[in-house]
Amino acid sequence: MTILVCGGAGYIGSHTVAELLDKGHEVIVADNLETGHKAAVWPGAQLITGDLRDETFANRLFSARNIDAVIDFAAYSLVGESMNEPLKYYKNNVGGVINLLEAMKNNQVRYIVFSSTAAVYGEPDEIPILETAPTNPTNPYGETKLAVEKALKWAESAFGLRYAALRYFNVAGAHISGEIGEDHRPETHLIPNALKTQLHGGALKLFGDDYPTPDGTCVRDYIHVTDLADAHILALEKIRSSDKSDVYNLGNGSGFSNKQIIRRVEKVTGKPLRCDVAPRRPGDPASLVASSDKIIKELGWKPKYASLETIIETAWAWISSHPNGFPE
Ligand SMILES: NC(=O)c1ccc[n+]([C@@H]2O[C@H](COP(=O)([O-])OP(=O)(O)OC[C@H]3O[C@@H](n4cnc5c(N)ncnc54)[C@H](O)[C@@H]3O)[C@@H](O)[C@H]2O)c1
Repeated sequence: MTILVCGGAGYIGSHTVAELLDKGHEVIVADNLETGHKAAVWPGAQLITGDLRDETFANRLFSARNIDAVIDFAAYSLVGESMNEPLKYYKNNVGGVINLLEAMKNNQVRYIVFSSTAAVYGEPDEIPILETAPTNPTNPYGETKLAVEKALKWAESAFGLRYAALRYFNVAGAHISGEIGEDHRPETHLIPNALKTQLHGGALKLFGDDYPTPDGTCVRDYIHVTDLADAHILALEKIRSSDKSDVYNLGNGSGFSNKQIIRRVEKVTGKPLRCDVAPRRPGDPASLVASSDKIIKELGWKPKYASLETIIETAWAWISSHPNGFPE
């Protein structure tokens, strides 16, 4: 298949491009390189630089080539920033996807896998979270992702689009080769920040130690980026073979507290980690743990790098060999 990967120069997109190429697909990456990196695009993929907020660019992507399906990662994803600049998030995370869907419709491309998020659930009533749980986002970022999920549903009934919306929990780790990994600027995720602190010195900010959890710190569910990449390919195969759309959670089904992560980081890096406790971040739920039973049962998804040690070890291999991230 020829697959258009929007946001394929970003963290999760670049790992998915690597897996798609490994499976023999032809891959076209569309990215504005705003948070992504040219050097993250796996050799063999064609990079087209441009912005999905530009309708003409979105249409040109399809009119110039035969695309069979789309995987869309392109979005802003900083929760805190979305609280201060909600319209920026709506313009990109909703506006960009609407242009993409219109271009797909104009060019009879019917299949899309979309990056959604655990943030669509908000503060959950029950753990682990099932796909049927209520969706009540507590920040504009989660709202924009939920708005797209709803647009996909209406596009399905109106013009036959088929989609898989994948609601990721916390994504971490790096490609097993050590060639690509996580390089967000700024980085807001715990594992890379803890590892960077080990590499460059200083103290890690631990946001809140008074949550109603066993050790007072937030509990999260971590999934390896390559396992997540594989799930996209399975989801794409499934929507094509069944001609049906669906929504799947993607996590590991077990929660680790921030303090537990810190202990594992110390174990992998072999030295103590300095931490400063900071106030809670607004909109951070105490505990987010996925039930991924649906994708395991229905699509036969089998995570290869599920252990927390492997997730942290691969992230450490990438960060310690690329102390300044990707070259610009
Ligand atoms: N990283 C996580 O833990 C996580 C968790 C849940 C959901 N997600 C979602 O997964 C997706 C990928 O996340 P990531 O961590 O790889 O982010 P990322 O910032 O590394 O990747 C996003 C990519 O999209 C590109 N992009 C953004 N807006 C664009 C536009 N208008 N036109 C063209 N390109 C554009 C960026 O340059 C970047 O390469 C996002 O949609 C994010 O919301 C991520």
